[in-house]
Amino acid sequence: MADDRLDELLREQIAYYRARAGEYDEWFLRTGRYDRGAELNRRWFDEVAEVAAALDAFRPAGRVLELAAGTGLWMERLALHADHITALDASAEVLAINRARLNRLATGPDAAPNPTVIYEQADIFAWRPRERYDVIFFSFWLSHVPRERFDAFWQTVRAALADGGRVFFADSLYTDLSTAHDHQLAGPDAASLRRRLNDGREYSIVKVFYRPDELSERLTALGWQADVRATASFFLYGEAVPVA
Ligand SMILES: C[S@@+](CC[C@H](N)C(=O)[O-])C[C@H]1O[C@@H](n2cnc3c(N)ncnc32)[C@H](O)[C@@H]1O
Repeated sequence: MADDRLDELLREQIAYYRARAGEYDEWFLRTGRYDRGAELNRRWFDEVAEVAAALDAFRPAGRVLELAAGTGLWMERLALHADHITALDASAEVLAINRARLNRLATGPDAAPNPTVIYEQADIFAWRPRERYDVIFFSFWLSHVPRERFDAFWQTVRAALADGGRVFFADSLYTDLSTAHDHQLAGPDAASLRRRLNDGREYSIVKVFYRPDELSERLTALGWQADVRATASFFLYGEAVPVA
């Protein structure tokens, strides 16, 4: 895809997530247009639990950077381990929801350990790290990085890692059971697809699906040691460290 078309698509992707902020969690919580019935929803939450357990076993401790942090669905998990979290996202709207969720978490009856959290509103493709992190985490973000920007994105990740730093990521497998009833996948090799909000507005966004073996190979070629796994139907997840 030509560079200017790609830039336009990435701007539209940001606009989509800004407009979707208030309804974003419906996808994760399997409500509204994402409700696939009791059996599939149960499988979804079982597989979420599998990824969450892998993240706990990974132990995202110390100084953690969460890229494309969104509404904070995974922040709760990170907060159980981290001393400090920097949550970066391009959308002020999702960061406001994230902040409110964190405040509830810090003051609620199940108050988690209380890391310090800094919010940073930035476009990942233009962002350059000012400090280094022990752990970099991103969930449901890598599939929104165009194939053409994959190498540059991982260079940014590498530049933001402290010595001995580690990466954990999670994302969607290619299945039309994950998205809303009225969304259509464009085939496993498509670079973008159309998404609709509850009010009917439509946007084009980047969506690149990886198979675990393919992603592992790409990361190895870039100088990472990666372990990429998949749950039964919905998710891909893994960890990576730069090869010395
Ligand atoms: C699919 S959501 C994932 C959110 C969160 N990580 C999660 O698992 O729920 C993608 C997120 O990427 C953010 N985003 C989109 N384009 C971005 C960009 N260029 N720079 C930073 N964040 C961006 C959106 O605002 C949105 O919060």
